[in-house]
Amino acid sequence: MSKKIYLYGNWKMNMTAAETRKFFDEFAGCYEPFKNDSGLEVGVFSPFTSLWALAEGAKKCGVVFGAQNVYYEAKGAFTGEVSIPMLKEIGVDHVIIGHSERRHIFGESDELIAKKVKALLDAGITPVFCYGETLEERESGNTFKVMERQIKSAIAGLTPEEVAKIIYAYEPVWAIGTGKSATSEQAQEVCEWSRKLIGDPKVVILYGGSVKGSNAKELLSMKDIDGALVGGASLKPGSFLEIYSEFKK
Ligand code: PGA
Repeated sequence: MSKKIYLYGNWKMNMTAAETRKFFDEFAGCYEPFKNDSGLEVGVFSPFTSLWALAEGAKKCGVVFGAQNVYYEAKGAFTGEVSIPMLKEIGVDHVIIGHSERRHIFGESDELIAKKVKALLDAGITPVFCYGETLEERESGNTFKVMERQIKSAIAGLTPEEVAKIIYAYEPVWAIGTGKSATSEQAQEVCEWSRKLIGDPKVVILYGGSVKGSNAKELLSMKDIDGALVGGASLKPGSFLEIYSEFKK
């Protein structure tokens, strides 16, 4: 197995700053055996209020870190929003954009998501762009139609160099937080299709949705899956890193 694996943890609305410090106290030891493994890139995405603590822990361990959302304007009258310069000050260089919880609970549109992707690229920050279908969309045979709309809207107007800088994350909504992951064949099918649609064979594409130690090997061994975006299992250093150890077995 020579491909590089991206293991990204999306903490969602979990982990206070104190809990983040505690996580890294434990993570540092668990991560020691993997520290010099060039085949692994770990990333952690926390709530805004924990970002300073996350930055400290992540830098010590040498892992990537980022936020789970951002607004595309640099400053101004946008109550409750956080800007890219604010994140840059903390040292953030990756941001999750378009997560299905943002799309479906908070009503973020393809247009808004596209503006965020472009603003991040302009600022030299890597967008981790999420897309995926709901159960209803899958069952009505619209999976690829929906994803084509989501992906094309995010990359429209970007240069090939910009398209290549985005990290893509296929996350079927029905597999998120449900314990019911997509099968490795389903995930591979979509990731392979996405790669063709994006038009760059080298882009990084993650799969997300109930990834854990027990299904890691199957999913991460698929040709077009470069890694995992992990929710629930990323909240504990042991269950998070187990995903990579299982893949390596
Ligand atoms: P999950 O979440 O691993 O808890 O299913 C994944 C995600 O939403 O990124």
